[in-house]
Amino acid sequence: MRRTSLAWLALLGVALPGCDKPAEDAPDATASASVPAHQAATKPDTWLKPEQVERGRLVYEKHCLECHGAEGRGQPDDWRVKGANGMYPPPPLDDSAHAWHHPTAVLKQRIREGSPPGVGDMPAWQGKLTEAEIDDVVVYVKSLWSPEVFRRWIEIEMRSMQN
Ligand code: HEC
Repeated sequence: MRRTSLAWLALLGVALPGCDKPAEDAPDATASASVPAHQAATKPDTWLKPEQVERGRLVYEKHCLECHGAEGRGQPDDWRVKGANGMYPPPPLDDSAHAWHHPTAVLKQRIREGSPPGVGDMPAWQGKLTEAEIDDVVVYVKSLWSPEVFRRWIEIEMRSMQN
């Protein structure tokens, strides 16, 4: 298991923007065509394809921006402090808050189900967005994270897949 995860890190490492490997042996992270078929079958959901980021951006701007702010920057209120209604305000979804600590499965579940009762007022998106739109918007959210945070998130994602 450990060898597999190291292999994944190496694989993802060379593909990430901002990596210090020489450009000539770094595959283009964004071009799915550069991912060999046998890797595509097992790779974690971390390769941000520009066309999917763009689809996700449209979903985000239509449904999420009003609460989570432009480019996921959140609201002026402190996202850690409950408002007068006893609920948390919408947090930033960029890498300045907590969203990036969640594996993909948890992010998608929160989006599908909305806020737990009494925690916040995010509606449930299941039935309003397709699974494909939820996938796209999650990829857009990941595109807002810096390469460094994205690398740390990959470790969280891999740990979650080993459980
Ligand atoms: C009506 C306001 C509102 C809208 C619209 C909304 N959200 Fe939220 N969202 C919240 C609030 C409030 C929270 C914090 C409470 C909670 O965790 O449920 C939250 C939490 C989240 C979280 C968990 C963040 C974390 O740090 O754990 C994610 C992910 C998220 N929203 C994604 C989305 C996406 C994607 C959309 C658009 C499809 C969206 N939200 C639309 C209000 C909203």
